[in-house]
This record gives sequence, C-alpha cells and structure tokens, in this order.
Amino acid sequence: MYSIRAATEADLPAAVELVTRLQADPGHHVGYHGTTGEEVAEELTRLTPDWATGAVVGVDGHGAVRALLSVEADPEQGRAWLYGPFVDVPAGHPAARQVWHNTADDLLDLATGSPLLAGITDLELYGHRLNRLLGDFAARHGFAAGAASRVFTLTGAALRSVLISAAEDTVGPRKLNGDPATRAQVVDLHERCFPNRSASGEQVVAGTRGHTVVVLTGADGVIGYAAGFVQQEELYVDYVAVDPNMRDAGAGRSLVRALLRTLAAEQGVRCQAAAVIALGNDASERMFTALGFTLHLELVAYRLR
Ligand SMILES: CC(C)(COP(=O)(O)OP(=O)(O)OC[C@H]1O[C@@H](n2cnc3c(N)ncnc32)[C@H](O)[C@@H]1OP(=O)(O)O)[C@@H](O)C(=O)NCCC(=O)NCCS
Repeated sequence: MYSIRAATEADLPAAVELVTRLQADPGHHVGYHGTTGEEVAEELTRLTPDWATGAVVGVDGHGAVRALLSVEADPEQGRAWLYGPFVDVPAGHPAARQVWHNTADDLLDLATGSPLLAGITDLELYGHRLNRLLGDFAARHGFAAGAASRVFTLTGAALRSVLISAAEDTVGPRKLNGDPATRAQVVDLHERCFPNRSASGEQVVAGTRGHTVVVLTGADGVIGYAAGFVQQEELYVDYVAVDPNMRDAGAGRSLVRALLRTLAAEQGVRCQAAAVIALGNDASERMFTALGFTLHLELVAYRLR
C-alpha cells in the first residue's frame, strides 16, 4: 500500500509530524521517543552519522510520509536500536492490521540491508506495553520480549525542591573528575550492575554517549555513581548504582539529587526529570518514589541476538 524507500534529510519534518502524532496513542507508542514535536525532532537529529542514514520511510500515492523506521547503531558493541516501526494506517481501513504488519515488514527488510547494520548481531525494539502491533511484529521476527520497565517522572514542586536543596553541596556526591582509580571503580560497578546494557562502563565514564556522571566516595573508594543527560524537555537519569555493601542508607537518593542538580546547573533546568526502572526492581522504585517520582508509563523491550 505504501512504497518503501531510504529516507532523505528532506523527509525530516514529515517524519517528526508522523512520529509525534502516533506517539500520543499507547497502541503505537515507541519507548525511544518522547511525545512532543521538539523531543522527537531532537531524538531523530541526534542519531549518527545523521538521521537519514539508516532510516527508511513508507510514502503514499501522493508522496506523503506515512511510515518510518529509523536506526541507531553502535558498531563497537555490535548492537542497534530500531526506532519504530511507525505505520499510519488510514482510519477505518478494513485491513488495518494487515497493512500495518506488511508495511512494518517492508521497512525492516530495507533497514536491515543498510550499511549501518553491517556487523550488527544484536537488535532491539522498545514500545509501550499496549503497543500490541509491535509485540506481535517482534514475535514474528524472532525477538524475545524482555521484562517490562516503568518510566517514572518528577515534575513541579517535587522537582524544584530536589533542584534547590543545597544540603549535600559540600559533603555529598561530586562530579566525576579525572582520577583514574575512581573512574576504574565506577566502570567496575557499572559492569557489575548493568552488564550488557546500551552504554558500557567505559562509554559512560568517558562521556562518549553524552553522560554526565556524579560519584560518591568514602574511605574505601567509590560508594556509588549516577549518570544521565539532558534532553530537550527533561533531565534524564540513565544509571544509578550503589556498592551492594553500602545500600539502604540513602546513598542512591543523594546521587540522584546530585545528578539532577549538576545537569540543571550545567545545561539548564527542564520542567521534568525521568528514569526508567525494570519491573520488580523494588529498591530502585522505592528510591525514586521517595524523591517524589511517580509512574508515567510502562514499556517492553524486545531483543534479537
Ligand atoms: C537502586 C539502588 C541504586 C538504590 O541505592 P540505595 O543507596 O540503596 O538507595 P536508597 O538507600 O536511597 O533507597 C533505597 C530504598 O529501597 C529500599 N529497599 C531496598 N531493598 C528493597 C526491596 N527489596 N524492596 C523494597 N524496598 C527496598 C530501602 O529500604 C530504601 O528505602 P528507605 O530508605 O525508605 O528504607 C541500589 O539498590 C543499586 O545499586 N541497585 C543495583 C543497580 C540498580 O538497579 N539501579 C537502578 C536502575 S534504575
């Protein structure tokens, strides 16, 4: 129904409009994207080497962009993330499901032939728990469904109170500096707590994936660290880990607070902070809710290795 072709830079505004419209519906929502046009534009233009390389679109008979799959690849880790597929089927179409799946298959066929995916052996899709089309698509293509994760957000007065509290400014966590021993311990803690995740310990510490890192140290070295980055509309907490012997004493909370304050001070305040927590990670949920974070949505990752 739609013809599939490689994306060009000129498709970007139409792609942003399409994604923003579909993101508002949990049945089409994809976890890699936010919900406003500004967020989606930022997420797409951040892709390297540029958005159009690796992205494929489906266009209707008038040349309008009606479907999209964009790709982010990390050759170092042999992994890639598929942003989509997004397929806009006309309302009331008698074979809507079939059109969605046929178009999504065609997008995937063309995208996986891209040179960007040469040597990649590990693919991931990520969507709202209610995006059943994505779940079925993932299963048909042999992706295994992972555990659900929950997006928690912090807004309004609760966020302001985290950002302005100055109690830990002199004794609490500090921004990671060049000290090799501290950096090595952060890498080690990251690899122990988050093996095989989207950013390795080396990448987090070096900032090559855009992370800002804060670290809490004690007499015996690193107690914990938190890493995150600033997006168009939010401060994002990507990783937080505390040495297993030092947990349940408030270190995690103080690391998250320090990270949010550092991100806001260096790159500007946003109206929301967010974190993704694996379903069943009760300690993490407890830590974030104690800071005022509340449940925003539930997502599922699908992985093909
Ligand atoms: C999540 C983590 C960073 C928390 O660090 P921490 O220093 O223990 O954090 P805090 O002490 O600030 O808060 C932890 C809270 O969880 C509670 N908790 C601990 N284990 C729990 C469990 N199994 N079920 C429910 N609550 C639990 C603690 O009692 C504490 O709450 P309280 O202060 O109200 O009593 C730490 O557990 C960790 O490193 N986990 C492994 C990595 C990880 O999962 N990171 C989070 C990714 S989103």
